[in-house]
Amino acid sequence: MAETQLDVRALDKTDAYRALRVQFDALCEGVTDEIALMSTMACVLQLGFGHLWTGFYRRVGAAKLIVGPFQGTIGCLEIEFGKGVCGTAAAHKETLIVPDVNAFPGHIACDARSRSEIVVPVLDRGGELIAVLDIDSERLAAFDEVDRRELESWVRWFAKVT
Ligand code: SME
Repeated sequence: MAETQLDVRALDKTDAYRALRVQFDALCEGVTDEIALMSTMACVLQLGFGHLWTGFYRRVGAAKLIVGPFQGTIGCLEIEFGKGVCGTAAAHKETLIVPDVNAFPGHIACDARSRSEIVVPVLDRGGELIAVLDIDSERLAAFDEVDRRELESWVRWFAKVT
């Protein structure tokens, strides 16, 4: 059984992602249920990094996102494609790193403490958008190219099972 909580605070960011990934892969080996995977991924990342909010918005219908498994404070329940950081990342199917959310036109402030954000599209094996992974931080410019590279790799899990 994998450890329930890894302390990665002493590691650099790449090593922290790698250590958490080993834990996630061990926990989820053989798991194909999308919700179980989203829940566990949100939990492992949130416990590891301690950000304000880590979770998924799932696509419903043609152009709407609805909140999925998450850890953190209460988030908004629905987001239309093209709205906010999540809706913009969903509409373009590309990762968005926002170093200062107050400088992002249309940012949806679910928690006033949020200062920066990364949103990564989650695609199925056919390249269709099934969700976005959203992580919000209380720190300005908390996310960089390491987060993009690692999180894009993490969400490729879903292309294997959907
Ligand atoms: N800030 C996001 C909304 C989601 S929450 O913050 C949990 C956005 O602008 O899309």
